[in-house]
Order: sequence, then C-alpha cells, then structure tokens
Amino acid sequence: MAGVIEIDKQHKELVNMFNRLNEAVKNNESRENIYRIIDEVITFTRIHFATEEQLMVQSGYPEIEAHREKHKDLIKEALHLKDKLDYVGEQMFTDWFNHWPFARVLAHIQYADQQVEDHITQSGGVAYSGA
Ligand SMILES: [Fe+2]
Ligand SMILES: [Fe+2]
Repeated sequence: MAGVIEIDKQHKELVNMFNRLNEAVKNNESRENIYRIIDEVITFTRIHFATEEQLMVQSGYPEIEAHREKHKDLIKEALHLKDKLDYVGEQMFTDWFNHWPFARVLAHIQYADQQVEDHITQSGGVAYSGA
C-alpha cells in the first residue's frame, strides 16, 4: 500500500535522525552541529506530518483533527529542544531526550500512526502520487 510504505519509510528516517542527534550530543560535537541536527529534525518532522495529514485527508480518516492536534503538540515540544539542551547540558540531555520526546514520538508511531495506516489499508489505499 503506497501510503503506508511512505509513512513507514519516513518513520525510519525520523528514528535515524533522533539517533544521530543522540550520538552528536554524546560525542560532544559542537553546539552549532547539534543545533543544525535539531533544525533538520524539526524540518523533517514537519514534512512527515504534512505527508501523514495529506494521506489522512485522501483516505478519509475520521480522526484527522485529533491527530493534527497531536502533531502540533509534538512540534511545539521539538521547538524547545535547543532551550532544553542549553538548560540541562549535554550530560543530561540524552537521558531526558530518550525518556520524553523520543519515547513520545515512538508511542505516537506505534499507536496513533498505526491507526492511520490500518485505516489506509482497510479503505483500499489512497490515490497517492508518491511526490
Ligand atoms: Fe508519523
Ligand atoms: Fe502522526
């Protein structure tokens, strides 16, 4: 199912980016570098959410508004990543990041996004260009 494959692909990329961010912090890379990765994470997350929301519209997913709200909350949280890093420092950041934002996104993928994927599959897919 084209839409489901695209969502899965983007989820993998998102998790890769989170791991890269963790690595950069653990390896004490420059703050400039880490900020750049955070910016990339936010940019890609926005792209991913837009893709998912488009697929929800195209497949007539009924819970779209509630799901959109969850995306908005996750973006809001992502916009605080730099402040959090400055506030807690590198030592504590990874632990906090894994227990909160990363875990929350994984839970979102596992539950909320899975429902969208099930809906797309059950409704026979979407006319998706893959663009
Ligand atoms: Fe997602
Ligand atoms: Fe989602």
